Amino acid sequence: MKSRKKILLGLLVLALAVTVLIGCNNQKPGPGTAVTPPPTDQQPVAQYVGSDSCKTCHAEYHTNFEKSHHALAFKPLSDYPLTQPAGEIKLFDAKATDKTGNLDLANKDQVYGVMMDHYVVAKAPEGFTDKVYRVAALEKSGDKYVVKPAKEADIDKDGKPDYTAESYTCGSCHSPGIEHNSKDYGVSCESCHGPGGNHVTAANKAGTMDPKTAVNACNSCHESNPSKNDKGVWTANTHYGTRNYFASKHGQSASMNCLTCHDSHKPNASGLLLKADKAQDICAKCHEGKSFDLEKMMWKNPTDARGHFTKDHSFGALPYDKLGDDKKTPEIEITNQEAIDLITKLLPEAAKK
Ligand code: HEC
Ligand code: HEC
Ligand code: HEC
Ligand code: HEC
Ligand code: HEC
Ligand code: HEC
Repeated sequence: MKSRKKILLGLLVLALAVTVLIGCNNQKPGPGTAVTPPPTDQQPVAQYVGSDSCKTCHAEYHTNFEKSHHALAFKPLSDYPLTQPAGEIKLFDAKATDKTGNLDLANKDQVYGVMMDHYVVAKAPEGFTDKVYRVAALEKSGDKYVVKPAKEADIDKDGKPDYTAESYTCGSCHSPGIEHNSKDYGVSCESCHGPGGNHVTAANKAGTMDPKTAVNACNSCHESNPSKNDKGVWTANTHYGTRNYFASKHGQSASMNCLTCHDSHKPNASGLLLKADKAQDICAKCHEGKSFDLEKMMWKNPTDARGHFTKDHSFGALPYDKLGDDKKTPEIEITNQEAIDLITKLLPEAAKK
């Protein structure tokens, strides 16, 4: 992830430099996910134009995408019925608690939206350290929602929890559009396909949208290989959804990728981006007659109190009971030598750290 970020950053710096050199510096790319193709002499750096501008020509893709979890991962606060109308809150800067400011949650110019039906993400009041913060959280109450402080901290010691501006390191995956100055804050067509500005305006569309960009984009948000923690112990990441995919025979096969099993736009009957309504039917295409216990094989972290739902994708190569995890800690430690040997062989770069 880190080296990928560095490469992306490098590409962006290069793209920026070229933009300035050829004298069209109206573009403000931010760090993000899909790789922006380097500009040529003829083509200016593409702008992010928003998913709605793809609708007229790619209606079916748009309709399918809108129903996917990707489209639903970040929504406007106004989509949520609240028990009480959103109003002004007093916000403390979590890093410098003497700093306060007022934020009007009803103001759409201030509030970007809600990520994963939970965190309210907004612009910081004047004078705060960062530009974007998690400022509050939604909690379900019957069929409505209550706006609450994101953390239980009583900063002014009045016996009530206060709203704090918590640093927002989640945007590159959960709301890449904020950094891209896009109209869509959440995951959009352009999060996978890259900016579509040139494509939308080009008279001849051929070659203006690289079809490979999207296929390679999944891992920029979903890769969750294990890494060493600060004590040098390997730990499995429970967050992004492809935990240990690298260790599977699938991950090592050049002819398979995420799209062997997942659809890129169209959710199945259960609303998931899977190429069949029953996962077993996908497996059966290549493993005829075999029945896999997917619930057990795609194990979740049994010790994570917060119940993160990410499933293991090693398909039996790194089963939970062969990791040597300390069940008393929420982290999944990998201490079994056989498992470490496999990881070291397949992830030599991560092993060096
Ligand atoms: C005015 C109509 C129009 C709009 C608007 C439009 N497209 Fe397209 N798109 C096309 C056409 C036509 C093609 C086929 C181009 C070709 O001949 O390869 C295409 C092709 C594509 C391809 C396949 C590229 C390839 O080389 O295989 C992708 C991906 C794509 N569009 C994405 C988008 C996205 C994302 C948006 C919104 C940002 C968008 N399009 C907006 C007309 C449009
Ligand atoms: C999660 C990533 C992702 C998102 C979001 C996404 N796409 Fe795609 N799209 C892909 C991938 C990957 C492909 C390659 C074809 C496939 O699915 O195998 C593709 C293919 C396409 C194609 C056909 C290209 C071809 O070669 O025929 C079009 C057109 C397209 N997408 C348009 C859109 C539009 C419009 C949106 C938004 C409404 C969108 N996509 C959102 C990942 C994405
Ligand atoms: C910009 C970041 C980003 C990119 C790029 C991305 N995803 Fe996602 N993906 C997410 C987020 C965030 C969620 C969680 C959404 C939710 O559950 O509400 C998610 C959820 C999913 C899910 C689980 C929910 C479901 O609908 O089944 C699947 C499967 C998935 N993504 C597959 C893919 C594939 C395949 C690609 C590449 C074609 C891809 N993603 C590209 C961010 C991304
Ligand atoms: C590198 C990309 C990335 C970053 C950074 C990231 N997420 Fe996620 N997050 C994802 C993806 C992808 C999923 C969907 C995982 C799945 O479907 O298995 C997800 C799922 C979630 C979920 C729902 C599932 C769960 O595990 O509870 C929550 C809540 C969440 N993220 C919160 C956050 C917060 C808060 C931050 C910042 C502190 C953050 N994420 C940073 C990619 C990311
Ligand atoms: C496109 C074909 C394809 C699909 C679809 C597919 N696999 Fe595989 N799978 C393979 C290949 C190829 C191997 C490597 C076989 C080998 O090395 O002997 C493999 C290996 C495996 C293995 C390890 C070796 C074994 O046979 O026990 C498991 C477990 C597995 N797959 C489970 C699944 C599950 C579960 C699904 C569905 C969610 C699935 N596969 C879908 C092609 C596929
Ligand atoms: C061999 C088939 C296969 C491949 C290849 C595969 N997945 Fe999955 N994936 C599945 C199955 C099966 C599920 C479980 C669906 C369910 O919950 O019913 C799943 C679930 C997910 C989820 C949701 C996790 C959760 O906890 O709900 C995400 C996100 C995801 N996959 C992303 C990816 C990405 C990204 C890739 C490529 C790096 C990938 N997958 C490759 C079969 C596959």
